[in-house]
Amino acid sequence: MDLTPTPEDRFAFGLWTVGHSGRDPFGDATRPAIDPSETVRRLAELGAHGINFHDDDLLPPELDADENAARLKRFRQALDDTGMQVVTATTNLFFHPVFKDGAFTANDPAVRRYALQKTMRAIDLGAELGATTYVFWGGREGVEAMAAKPVEDALDRYKEAIDFLCGYVRDRGYDLRFALEPKPNEPRGDTFLPTVGHCLAFIERLEHPDMVGVNPETAHETMAGLSFYHAVGQALWAGKLFHIDLNAQKIGRYDQDLRFGSEGIKDAFFLVRLLESGGYDGPRHFDARPYRVDVAEGIWDFAAGCMRTYLALKHKAAAFDRDPEVRAALDAALVPQLGETTVGPYTPGAAQRLLEEQHDLDALARRDLRNEQLDQLVIDALLGLR
Ligand code: GCO
Ligand code: MN
Ligand code: MN
Repeated sequence: MDLTPTPEDRFAFGLWTVGHSGRDPFGDATRPAIDPSETVRRLAELGAHGINFHDDDLLPPELDADENAARLKRFRQALDDTGMQVVTATTNLFFHPVFKDGAFTANDPAVRRYALQKTMRAIDLGAELGATTYVFWGGREGVEAMAAKPVEDALDRYKEAIDFLCGYVRDRGYDLRFALEPKPNEPRGDTFLPTVGHCLAFIERLEHPDMVGVNPETAHETMAGLSFYHAVGQALWAGKLFHIDLNAQKIGRYDQDLRFGSEGIKDAFFLVRLLESGGYDGPRHFDARPYRVDVAEGIWDFAAGCMRTYLALKHKAAAFDRDPEVRAALDAALVPQLGETTVGPYTPGAAQRLLEEQHDLDALARRDLRNEQLDQLVIDALLGLR
């Protein structure tokens, strides 16, 4: 089993992932800052292919114009030297206190206008560096005091912002699609567009629905108590899986952003199997953070671990699908039959034939689907027993 990542695997990381300082609501940074050029070089050595960033990760607002120009130059040089690609970009619309009440859904119109302006500038930067997907994570688009923010008005403003920015991208002629990233809460008590399902419904009401898809994250769907595997499956089914944020999460916790595959290994197995066979051709992007106790080389152990586990699960999934016993168990569970049409499109003739059909309910109910056997084969595969 070759577990060495190569650029063909299309693994990507955000600058803010390996670059996370370890700061949390209870404690200060445990790690020094890393220059983005260094991040690019270290990730390239490990076999990654893509990088992405928030505008403020690449060009921190606290640095002056000259410092940022030099930083950008070093970043570009590292991309050129390594062949690493900028795959996506995004805007930080949550850190500065101006965004305390949200960005596109802030009650103050001046904040909303500033958020749009900041995003347009960040879109320019992303497009210039080659990004083809632009991510919108809601950040502080939410509320604690329910009376303070009527949901329908907030969604009108959210739609207005995304419609406006689609117009901007079209006007500028950028080859850029938008990916909305749901999250149920944190840092707000409740966040608008909390799940993949909410996002998919929202997208259909936009002016340019074809330009907008989703960027589901393992941790966020799991925080909502939902199956990430099913969320990704439905996004693929809808043709809307534009990007993905892979990490790990224990159910019922704060947003943990753990190393991919480090929790919920069975879910991770099915997720990788789905991505590898379900027609997803975008980057395999890890939006996770090293444990706060790791302060130096551990950062790169973390990055290597995300990719290693993904590749191991990819091999496991292929072996699982080739396994004759698994195939027999899939047949026993009638899995192939779910892929067959039931009645086809409606015609009066089809309706008539259906009405005349006889069904032996007792025989149908007696059918033993052997799902226990099938699931045990999954466990055996994951435990290395086959
Ligand atoms: C989170 C989010 C963020 C976003 C990122 C892109 O963990 O709450 O995933 O990491 O993905 O900021 O905007
Ligand atoms: Mn994310
Ligand atoms: Mn997260």
